[in-house]
Amino acid sequence: MPTAARIRPADAEAIAEAAALLRTGRLVAFPTETVYGLGADATDGEAVARIFAAKQRPSFNPLISHLAMAEQADTFAVLDERARQLAETFWPGPLTLVLPRRADSAIADITCAGLDTVALRVPAHPVAHALLYAVGRPVAAPSANRSGRLSPTRAEHVAPDLGDAVDLVLDAGPCHVGLESTVVGLAGEARLLRPGAVTAAEIAAVIGPVVVAEDANKPQSPGQLASHYAPTKPLRMNARAARPGEVLLGFGADVPGDVNLSPAGDLVEAAANLFRLLHELDAGDAAAIAVAPVPNDGLGMAINDRLRRATTPRT
Ligand code: TXA
Ligand code: MG
Repeated sequence: MPTAARIRPADAEAIAEAAALLRTGRLVAFPTETVYGLGADATDGEAVARIFAAKQRPSFNPLISHLAMAEQADTFAVLDERARQLAETFWPGPLTLVLPRRADSAIADITCAGLDTVALRVPAHPVAHALLYAVGRPVAAPSANRSGRLSPTRAEHVAPDLGDAVDLVLDAGPCHVGLESTVVGLAGEARLLRPGAVTAAEIAAVIGPVVVAEDANKPQSPGQLASHYAPTKPLRMNARAARPGEVLLGFGADVPGDVNLSPAGDLVEAAANLFRLLHELDAGDAAAIAVAPVPNDGLGMAINDRLRRATTPRT
């Protein structure tokens, strides 16, 4: 039996401890007005990789980066007039904006699942605000449940689900919205990517009509998102040596490769490096990418899932 996570009432001291944990790469569950989030420093790729390990998610999907204040959004994303109007109207609050990512953004590649967009939200919950303010960095946080389980609206829901993978749970009672934030994509035409606490009509009243993504109303398997990053070059898995024209992405000491996901064979490190290295190799000189075998347990399942999708030709 995994030991249950430590729960502390979210007073000033507990918030300070949680902020210190986050700043050193640990995981903290915290309340927002929608649901409890499982947080990690969004700029620390290994910390974010541990979120996927804790959730036992068999695939990577892009996570929301939470900010203390709306003014911070410009540091990480490009906001157009629509984004500004929505931010002004609904932040802090249960709205997430998917925006073009700034090239110099400190947010880790794995947080955005390798995409050139970033999801930002400024939560309204006073504990979330105090925590984010104390951390001073964006905090990546999906709902604090194991993959396939219900989203937690109370601190007690978090502990049995995630066990000792989370270092601390900040308890501030039940979340009053109880439903995840609305996700609106603004990288092109405005799209409702996930319905939530703010309605499409409320959004349309501010920026005009939004396209409702075809699958916005059914819970989507994150890996099926059309927006998922994949390299443009052919990719071959389970390779022990490069064939002519290939560059080899190694793993561990057995297959060092030209570059290595993790020389020590550590899956957390490999996950944190995956998207960055794929981008680099995709932009490099080789015609194709070969990837060493990655063990299919724990985070290895998500890594292999991502690689497998990258081997199927795209149209
Ligand atoms: O209410 C909420 O939003 C909660 C609290 C903790 O803030 N968080 C949450 O996170 O629900 P998560 O990871 O369970 O959901 C994030 C949603 C997913 O549907 C994901 O696909 C979408 O946001 N998303 C994030 N980044 C995206 C991107 N770059 N492009 C498209 N969709 C994105
Ligand atoms: Mg969720």
